[in-house]
Amino acid sequence: MHSEPYLLDPSDDGVQVLWHTAAPARGAVRLGDRRVEATSSALVSLFDDEGIRATVWRHWSDVRGLGAGRTPYRVESVFADGAVTESKTYTLAPAVPRHRPVRLLLSSDHQMWRNTPANLAKVAETVGVELDGVLFAGDMVGVPARAADWFEHPTGRGFFESMTGRADTEIGGRRYRGAPLLQHTPLFPAIGNHEVMGRRTRHRTLQARFDDPAPDAWDTAAYEELFPVPRGPAGPRWWSRTVGDVFVVALFVTRAWRDEINTYLEPPDRTGDPQGGQFLFERVDAGSPQHAWLAGELASPAARAARFRVVLFHHGSHGLGAHCVPAYADPVKLVSGGAVRYAYPIHDDVVFRDLAPLFAAAGVDLVLNGHSHLWNRFRDAAGVNWLETSNVGNSYGAFPERGDPGGLTPVLPTVAPLRDAAGTPLPFVADDDVTVFSVLDSADGVVRSYRFDTREPDGPVVLFDELPLKISG
Ligand SMILES: [Fe+2]
Repeated sequence: MHSEPYLLDPSDDGVQVLWHTAAPARGAVRLGDRRVEATSSALVSLFDDEGIRATVWRHWSDVRGLGAGRTPYRVESVFADGAVTESKTYTLAPAVPRHRPVRLLLSSDHQMWRNTPANLAKVAETVGVELDGVLFAGDMVGVPARAADWFEHPTGRGFFESMTGRADTEIGGRRYRGAPLLQHTPLFPAIGNHEVMGRRTRHRTLQARFDDPAPDAWDTAAYEELFPVPRGPAGPRWWSRTVGDVFVVALFVTRAWRDEINTYLEPPDRTGDPQGGQFLFERVDAGSPQHAWLAGELASPAARAARFRVVLFHHGSHGLGAHCVPAYADPVKLVSGGAVRYAYPIHDDVVFRDLAPLFAAAGVDLVLNGHSHLWNRFRDAAGVNWLETSNVGNSYGAFPERGDPGGLTPVLPTVAPLRDAAGTPLPFVADDDVTVFSVLDSADGVVRSYRFDTREPDGPVVLFDELPLKISG
């Protein structure tokens, strides 16, 4: 195995280049005559399905001294037996200077789902692969400690396979490879529930480990090895960066997933379960380190000077999607007749109660969420836009009759909404055949959302919504 390179955390004069091999090797980035050696180390947090540690070597070059604009590069790996593998030539660039406009792909929830490679192929056809960043609102894979989910998945749709143009999947007689995005465009990721592993003990398979987190036994080790930067005060779990004229904050806002739960109460068969329902992972409520840090970041000179402020995190509290409920609140234990159930009071929703006021006060323009695998958007009274554009690989449906748990009315797509059988425009895209992507174009101050129907492989990519980040007047 020799993965394609991917870019992380551009700085004023550099960018981080990472790639992986399945055997020990010495790595280097080549930029013309220049050679930047990599720091190479064995990853410790990836395994095969039986729990045997996978042999994956990470190569990480800190490329500095770059001029403005794009520079061609390739990576090489020199193995112990003298064999050398080289990538093709791609381009990298330092961070876009402050106040310059940028184009950012907004994505999430790939998870080896069927349509993801087609989605990314259509991104490349529509806006190219030389963007200024991919903002990714969590859920890259299924089981984060499973090496195959990242590199060589049986579906041909591992995360890096799709995001670097090495996927191989067929829909409607058309073969899709994803797109070579991450070789050219830095990834700015946030953690979803599928980046969190559960208890290390008790379980033989990785899936069982993933399915069994406890409040004192979960970890993001695999994510942190694969995406060691950008970093904030707690490492890669939450961070902020200025990308051109956009200030970006990524938060760790996601919780334990219990697949039985589709109501506000948990089924009684968890009697005696010590895990405490769908507990929240990293704290982000008022008084927590993450919340205090966020408040400081949103009030910082960098945030205030940027033309746009964007916050990304996985859990969507506003939304028509399946996973907006129950509320993002600490589970309240209810014992009745020996059965234990949990309630999730909406008035204790941490996103609405403790985060939304910060966003309003700081003039946040866009909150990007994932988790429910649909497209929908909202605009709150403070002018904050809330977007989920995660109908990438599949959909978990929309529930307009239930409505937004936060009480907002969804905004109809401005250009070409899908329509129901009666011809009524729909305020969402939730479709297993139609795939959606969104691009923030800060020069125009809009997020454009596009859809593509995989049943019509020769059909168009349709611009269906333009979200103005600021409404003047
Ligand atoms: Fe999720």
